[in-house]
Amino acid sequence: MTGLPNERIIYICCNERDDEQLKPSCGKKGSKALVECFQTALDEREIHDIEVVENKCLGACQNGPTVFIYPDNIWYGHVTPDDVQEIVTEHFAKNRPLKRLFIQSIMNKL
Ligand code: FES
Repeated sequence: MTGLPNERIIYICCNERDDEQLKPSCGKKGSKALVECFQTALDEREIHDIEVVENKCLGACQNGPTVFIYPDNIWYGHVTPDDVQEIVTEHFAKNRPLKRLFIQSIMNKL
C-alpha cells in the first residue's frame, strides 16, 4: 500500500467498564500499556509526526484492545504490547498496514 499520509493519530481505547459481564472493555485487557509502548516505539525510530492518543470507547469492544489509525481508517484488534513494534515497523515505517491484526468485521465494510 502506498500513499498513506505521514501525519497520523493512533487512537487507543483505554475505556474501563466496571461490569465486564455486560461488555468487555479494552482498559481491563491492558490497553493502557499500549499507549507507552507506541510512544516508546515511535521515539526509538525518531518518528515524530504520529500522535498517540488515549481514547474512550471506540465501539469495537469485543475486539479489544482496539486501536484506530487516523486518517488511514485502519482498525486493529486484540493488540498487545508484543504487536506494537511490528505495527510501527510495518504500518508506519513501511506503509504496509498489518493485516493479521485487522478487525475484519469493520475493515470488510470499508
Ligand atoms: S471498550 Fe474499547 S472499543 Fe469499547
